[in-house]
Amino acid sequence: MTTALITGANKGLGFQTASELAELGWTVWLGARNEQRGVAATAALADKPGQVRFVQLDVTSDESVDAAATTLEDAGDGLDVLINNAGIIGPGVDVAHTQPTDFLACFGVNLLGPVRGDQRPHGAPGQIGPSTNRDGLERHGIDHRDHRP
Ligand SMILES: NC(=O)c1ccc[n+]([C@@H]2O[C@H](COP(=O)([O-])OP(=O)(O)OC[C@H]3O[C@@H](n4cnc5c(N)ncnc54)[C@H](OP(=O)(O)O)[C@@H]3O)[C@@H](O)[C@H]2O)c1
Repeated sequence: MTTALITGANKGLGFQTASELAELGWTVWLGARNEQRGVAATAALADKPGQVRFVQLDVTSDESVDAAATTLEDAGDGLDVLINNAGIIGPGVDVAHTQPTDFLACFGVNLLGPVRGDQRPHGAPGQIGPSTNRDGLERHGIDHRDHRP
């Protein structure tokens, strides 16, 4: 049984990835920072062959990442693949009006989030980042085409 954890999986690419891995029979930890959205997304995948489990996970919070790591550890299934999917775009203003501080929120989620997750002793041999989802999915034999929500 292959087990994956996907951060930011309550919608978008993360949710679609959770759906496809569960369709393959993988056990999927659906990470979401908001419990209500995470539980709803997990319920939407209840009929998949693989088991989908919600885990609260805010990648900007050491406490949240630690708690999620403990939850996975207690479940005892290990972790084969960590998909660092959670990300934000930022304020979306044009370059001329972008201030250095505008980047801080993006760095917090997009850069430090994966660093935080990667430092936990999960031992996942496969790690996939936001910009490498397609390559990563192909390496695991998953057809990613035509699935943009
Ligand atoms: N879409 C593209 O064309 C594209 C291209 C290149 C790279 N990417 C990257 O691929 C990833 C997914 O993109 P997407 O289009 O599916 O984005 P999306 O629809 O905006 O989904 C982003 C997910 O990340 C979650 N998230 C945000 N901040 C978080 C935090 N602090 N802790 C945990 N989860 C957090 C969001 O949760 P909430 O619902 O609670 O906000 C949401 O579930 C992102 O990292 C993005 O930068 C996307």
